Amino acid sequence: MSQRTANAQALIQALDLQSHVEGGYFRRTYQADHREMLDTVGGPRYLMTSIYYLLTEQSPVGQFHFNHSDIVHFFHLGDPIEYSMIHADGSLETLVMGNDILAGQHLQMHVPGGIWKASRLLEGEHGFGLISEAVSPGFDFADMEMGDRRKLIAQFPQHRMLIEKLTRDAD
Ligand code: GUN
Repeated sequence: MSQRTANAQALIQALDLQSHVEGGYFRRTYQADHREMLDTVGGPRYLMTSIYYLLTEQSPVGQFHFNHSDIVHFFHLGDPIEYSMIHADGSLETLVMGNDILAGQHLQMHVPGGIWKASRLLEGEHGFGLISEAVSPGFDFADMEMGDRRKLIAQFPQHRMLIEKLTRDAD
């Protein structure tokens, strides 16, 4: 095992992370269970939840997925992470989270609900990238949809290559 892989494994252990269905690793760190639940069209939700989210060289992609909730992302450690976001009108937004602020990387990113989002670990000296997400209304799998490659390409044919790179091949 390379030193980079060992470092990423140590981080997964230290933060007690599990594999995420999108790719990468996560752990829920907070849910607002001391407050009343929020009524949403999908049912009751926590006012807010938060997670750690880690990408590594072994699992470098968070696949395209859709969420109804708003999500604030905070970069912590490691190599930069590139985010691709497809808006409802088909426009593509790309943003890099990382700590090289002077090179235009972002420590925070705010993503309103209703957007398809994917993430990809960029080359760097660490072999991992760690962020946190605060989600409101709180995360619930019922508010989230994993991107189906065929359906997404049919909906956004202009982004075919990107979608192929950042979704799982179901075939
Ligand atoms: N994505 C953002 N927040 C969460 C969460 O609490 N759980 C899961 N599984 N995914 C998330």
